[in-house]
Amino acid sequence: MTIPRHLAVIMDGNGRWAARRRRPRVIGHRAGARAVNLCIDFCLERGIAALTLFAFSSENWGRPEEEVGALMKLFLNALDREVVELHRRGVRVRFIGERERFGAQIRERMESAEAQTAGNTRLALNIAASYGGRQDIAAAARALARDVAEGRLEPEDIDEAAFASRVALADLPPPDLFIRTGGDMRISNFLLWQLAYTELWFTDTLWPELDAATLARALDDFAGRERRFGLTGEQAAALETPA
Ligand code: IPE
Ligand code: IPE
Ligand code: MG
Repeated sequence: MTIPRHLAVIMDGNGRWAARRRRPRVIGHRAGARAVNLCIDFCLERGIAALTLFAFSSENWGRPEEEVGALMKLFLNALDREVVELHRRGVRVRFIGERERFGAQIRERMESAEAQTAGNTRLALNIAASYGGRQDIAAAARALARDVAEGRLEPEDIDEAAFASRVALADLPPPDLFIRTGGDMRISNFLLWQLAYTELWFTDTLWPELDAATLARALDDFAGRERRFGLTGEQAAALETPA
């Protein structure tokens, strides 16, 4: 069975999960933390090498102050609680997104989590926090412009590869599989550049209800797909490297 090397996940549906129980949205976010661990365990068990989780979008800053504040507390607690265990299990943790928008405490914890786990190789876990795909692309354009202005790069040399090396997760293969829970079929400004040829999979399951069986279904579906990358089916089959 073909296993994705890199899985990208939009963890959506926490608010609706709580609303169904007539509880405040933050209860849904708290319940969602369990599903994060489940998803990481699943990747470790299946030998998926990279996992990118969308935790908080650039646009999520516009939510009610109370919800944003509660989410920040949850991030802080999760960073305090989980990093030791992640490290023990060989997980390398990294954060992508506009980190400067977080408070000093969270930024420090992010840096220390990254430093502590930098040498791990079992699973590359990327947390997209204050992340936006458009912001990512704009930042890459800014980096290219800076390189040109400072004489390190010629405008003629700006090509796909130059761009790709300046967006987030440049050192990883692009996601093979994208999963979104919560039933909405959209990308919501997640990895726009990186998802160009990613296989998309959607489920109505709300994030806090996620279980291993649902993830297994996504992987089964993925294994049955023919990825053609713009070529003919025949050409694509010839490209496939034997497992
Ligand atoms: C995803 O769940 C978590 C974040 C965006 C932080 P939501 O909070 O978007 O839940 P719904 O989509 O409103 O149910
Ligand atoms: C996407 O979910 C962001 C995260 C899961 C972190 P949203 O709930 O913010 O997306 P929309 O608003 O439904 O598009
Ligand atoms: Mg949502």
